[in-house]
Amino acid sequence: MPTTAETAVATICESFGHDRTRLLDILLSVQSRLGCIGDAAVDALAAELGMPRVEVAGVVSFYSFLTAKPRGRVVIRLCDDVPDRMLGADRVGSGLEEELGIHFGETTADGLFTLEHASCIGMSDQAPAALFNDVVVPNLGPGAARRLVSEIRRQPEVGDLRRLLVREYGDGQNAHDLVRSGVKNNLRRAGEVIFAERAANAGLAKALAMTPAEVIRQVKTARLRGRGGAGFPTGMKWEFTRAAAAEQRYLICNADEGEPGTFKDRVILTERPDLLIEGMTIAGYAIGASRGLLYLRGEYAYLSAYLEDVLARRRAAGLLGESIGGRPGFDFDVRIQLGAGAYICGEETALISSCEGLRGDPKNRPPFPAQRGYLGKPTAVNNVETLCCVPRILEMGAGWFAAIGSGKSTGTKLLSVSGDCTRRGVYEVPLGTRLAAVLEMCGAEEPLAVQVGGPSGQMVGAADFAREICFDDLTTGGALVVFGPGRDPLAIASQYLAFFIHESCGYCTPCRVGNVLLKERLDCILAGRGEAADLDYLSALAATVKTASRCGLGQTSPNPVLSTLRSFRPFYEARLTTPVEGRQAGFDLAARLAEAGRLAGRQPAGVEAGGATR
Ligand SMILES: Cc1cc2nc3c(=O)[nH]c(=O)nc-3n(C[C@H](O)[C@H](O)[C@H](O)COP(=O)(O)O)c2cc1C
Ligand code: SF4
Repeated sequence: MPTTAETAVATICESFGHDRTRLLDILLSVQSRLGCIGDAAVDALAAELGMPRVEVAGVVSFYSFLTAKPRGRVVIRLCDDVPDRMLGADRVGSGLEEELGIHFGETTADGLFTLEHASCIGMSDQAPAALFNDVVVPNLGPGAARRLVSEIRRQPEVGDLRRLLVREYGDGQNAHDLVRSGVKNNLRRAGEVIFAERAANAGLAKALAMTPAEVIRQVKTARLRGRGGAGFPTGMKWEFTRAAAAEQRYLICNADEGEPGTFKDRVILTERPDLLIEGMTIAGYAIGASRGLLYLRGEYAYLSAYLEDVLARRRAAGLLGESIGGRPGFDFDVRIQLGAGAYICGEETALISSCEGLRGDPKNRPPFPAQRGYLGKPTAVNNVETLCCVPRILEMGAGWFAAIGSGKSTGTKLLSVSGDCTRRGVYEVPLGTRLAAVLEMCGAEEPLAVQVGGPSGQMVGAADFAREICFDDLTTGGALVVFGPGRDPLAIASQYLAFFIHESCGYCTPCRVGNVLLKERLDCILAGRGEAADLDYLSALAATVKTASRCGLGQTSPNPVLSTLRSFRPFYEARLTTPVEGRQAGFDLAARLAEAGRLAGRQPAGVEAGGATR
């Protein structure tokens, strides 16, 4: 007699046509059916898919949302990103531990709950937040967290977790039936490009009246650059992809949005999904792709039913599928690829690995994805926001788009603003807007520092507030975390390093080991045991990690140290046991940290009491 695992695995593999490149989807289905992907399931998967057992197990162990051991029926993942800690995630965590009678990383004896931390679930504007399975619970306090747990305990079955959570929390401002959450959009400022009112599909209609080469020319004339962080010119990327000889090409939309503090793509996916799919369709037409993938981070699984519905509606309207818009020969469709909790999968080559059913390991470049990407075929990977700019460029004209913004940075930028300010949320501003103007818009009072671009970006102080947010000055994929007076830049930098240590894929030594050494030395300084020479050590080691790492994660991971050394050096020097030449006179660290009293109810040590360990 076949075991339950064998039967389930056989049925699931069958439903995916035994396609091993769909391994991630297969594993997510197996886990959803069996509760975990244990030894028997791994054996059965290896046999069904004809792959070595070790490869299957290697994929399972890579993703934090996959598990080889049974977890509780409700997995609570409390976000422990910096903004969440600033707003009391540690107190929520203690409340949950007490109520459940377990620590983080454990499962209750009745098998009902598992308690874990998550790096960033894309909810920094409504922190502290947690995932209860795939349901997002924003704005959690310790009391509410405990109440939720006891409510769930009272339910005989955890069938409708969502209904229970919505009853407790309301449905946010969410007007969309299929969005399984109580998340608010917090769209604070709509600009002219992404969130403007417009005629649906006007960009697609214009594009289909042009040749693909003309569409690419429009995008180049608009000088559109990628919104995912690197700012690569989109038209050029598409030209390379189109020029690569192949029968099949692919377009991948990067909706991994894993950079801590970023949540603007979440708002686009909820409020402008049609604009995004329209942009993907135009991109497919331009590069000559008939297949697109929307890589949706696992933390946003609550949006997948809603997005599937959008795709189905567009198929029914002839806007996806064959002969789109009545144009024979232009076929294009989109598949949603769900991620499974790995920050590195936002990096485009790791993203492609993940879409291919592999561990999310970055690939060597060259060849670049435009030459050899998904399944070895030419592939353009673009961010959600980038693709949303495209229909607007076609609809309104490249000149219209290029006239917004400044210099080499055209168009608008979505900013995800969180931290110590009164109006957290998403702001669409013209590129070239000064940081000070954004700080005023979001109600940041006397900010000490702003983390621009997430942990891989830079921490800037008041001397930089007059700088412009654009590709030529302060670049950002979208995250702005505001730190008020009394926050400790070093404690924050240490927590960001902990994030990189956790998320490193471990492939290369400078990143795997270098970040650990950086954090150890930084923590030594934080504890008041550092010496003047440690500052040189930090600078030199940071430079090595940046230059010797294989992918963008390692190449940017020392930025928290480098940018705080540059902008907040007195916070280092005041803690050293040996004097530093030219040390800033009159800098009183204790007084600076004591100002935390103004940030009601929070700890003076920076991010949280006790520093920055996970
Ligand atoms: C560690 C790491 C994480 C990344 N995460 C994302 C992400 O979540 N979303 C994204 O669009 N780009 C991310 N990127 C950048 C992508 O590699 C790629 O440049 C981008 O998706 C290209 O799209 P664009 O040209 O439209 O910006 C990440 C890069 C690195 C190194
Ligand atoms: S730099 Fe880090 S994340 Fe990138 S390949 Fe090396 S170990 Fe992996």
